[in-house]
Amino acid sequence: MDKKTFYITTPIYYPSDKLHIGHAYTTVAADSIARYKKLTGYDVYFLTGSDEHGQKIERAAKSKGETPKEYVDEIVAGFKDLWQKLDVNYDDFIRTTQERHKKTVQMIFEQLYKQGDIYKSSYEGWYCTPCETFFTQRQLVDGKCPDCGRDVELLREESYFFRMSKYADEWLEFIEKNPDFIQPDSRRNEMISFVKQGLEDLCVSRTTFDWGIRVPFDEKHVVYVWVDALTNYLSALGYGSNDDSLYQKYWPADIHLVGKDIVRFHSIIWPIMLMALKLPLPKKIVGHGWLLLKDGKMSKSKGNVVDPLVLIKKYGVDAVRYYLLRELPFAADGYYSEEALANRINIDLANDYGNLLSRTVAMVIKYQKGVLKKPGSYDPLDKELIELAQNTPKAVEKLMEKPEISASLAEIWKLVDRANKYLDETSPWALAKDETKFERLNAVLYNVLEVVRFVTVMVSPFIPNVPFKVWKQLGISDKKELHTWESLKWGELPDNTEVGKGEVLFPRIDLSSL
Ligand code: MSP
Repeated sequence: MDKKTFYITTPIYYPSDKLHIGHAYTTVAADSIARYKKLTGYDVYFLTGSDEHGQKIERAAKSKGETPKEYVDEIVAGFKDLWQKLDVNYDDFIRTTQERHKKTVQMIFEQLYKQGDIYKSSYEGWYCTPCETFFTQRQLVDGKCPDCGRDVELLREESYFFRMSKYADEWLEFIEKNPDFIQPDSRRNEMISFVKQGLEDLCVSRTTFDWGIRVPFDEKHVVYVWVDALTNYLSALGYGSNDDSLYQKYWPADIHLVGKDIVRFHSIIWPIMLMALKLPLPKKIVGHGWLLLKDGKMSKSKGNVVDPLVLIKKYGVDAVRYYLLRELPFAADGYYSEEALANRINIDLANDYGNLLSRTVAMVIKYQKGVLKKPGSYDPLDKELIELAQNTPKAVEKLMEKPEISASLAEIWKLVDRANKYLDETSPWALAKDETKFERLNAVLYNVLEVVRFVTVMVSPFIPNVPFKVWKQLGISDKKELHTWESLKWGELPDNTEVGKGEVLFPRIDLSSL
């Protein structure tokens, strides 16, 4: 039987500057979801990319004396390098300057024009260049951009418009029938009230700059960047091209993962474009919170931008991934601090998880000559631990459906905590002093290491390098069948497993060095 498919996307990033830790969060989260889906048996397609057109890029390139293409090429190379260093395993990287993308955008624009959903008129409005968005006078806050607070310019231009208003009722009906379409619910409610206030037609072309995709039947105009950008989710699959096999296989997308600031574009403009094109809509738009600093947003002008490359070098990729995924409650904002990162490493990773493995392996070596037997029977205390181990994958599955990454990790760590407590309660070091208790001693150590195996399979989508080190210590590097989600049935760790001491999973961070 063919596997079920799963198509997940990140936003395509503006190559106007280097990416910071907040951008890294979105992509690492999408990568973790993609890995989790693969692990649980899906045929996954994971797309990321870069959103390269628009006035902001045109101006930035000019100020450096470069062509826009030269300018973005260099920055996009940096994106790819960052994703590689963060172990982001995407299937495709779409650039909006690629021919394959341009063709799809032009085809869609022309189709919407021909069917009367795009028409020509003229437009006057307040334009925020950094946000690439027009606002009406009423929408401004103290005369500034309502999204970013920066200055706006009054622009008047002949433009093409997309008949968004025509689809407002269909949109509302769709949202009502598909209550999970926008996640989390708080964002869904925001979007509903936005549309209920009345949708205006959207200005979808510009004549004030050149760096964009030409409107195919009117060369003076370039396509509005958001119409250009959103189309990447289709163009990357070859929609409308000679070979649309990926489109046939993976569309509609299962998740468009985006930050809260761009939920509006993804949950209103994009579905309405698809409705007009009579194409199936994505299954879910998931809008996560932002990673903030104590003094607000990260920004180049404030000079407080946190560079993920520096953190990876200092703490290792798994530690950085774990911190990001654990610290940010999916639906709300979270705060970045290096101290919190170090604490997560020391407490969750080094103490709770790393130590659980290393002290248990050390005891198996010391008391059992490194060999574990499968226990013949289980005590009530064991049964409680085993029950929790068996229930945790189900709890994670439920949370990842939403998807709630931080809560999934919290659930896995409940099991880690329980296993640590179990070690203290069963005190194998005391059992080792009494020859009549050797069987019990073996059972306790087996149970803990079987929990470590469960935990390691479950964390593998989030911190993908750690498992290799753990499998080595558990002596099951070659037993791939024990690294799978299906193997999460109690007692799969084989009889006569031979463990071996290995490197420390996560070295402790000296907090005074921060
Ligand atoms: N180019 C558009 C997206 C087009 S998608 C068809 C864009 N690019 S962006 O580079 O400005 O932002 C990309 C993503 O990074 C957004 O989802 C945004 O929410 C996210 N983040 C930017 N700063 C962030 C934090 N500080 N924290 C978390 N996510 C952040 O918008």
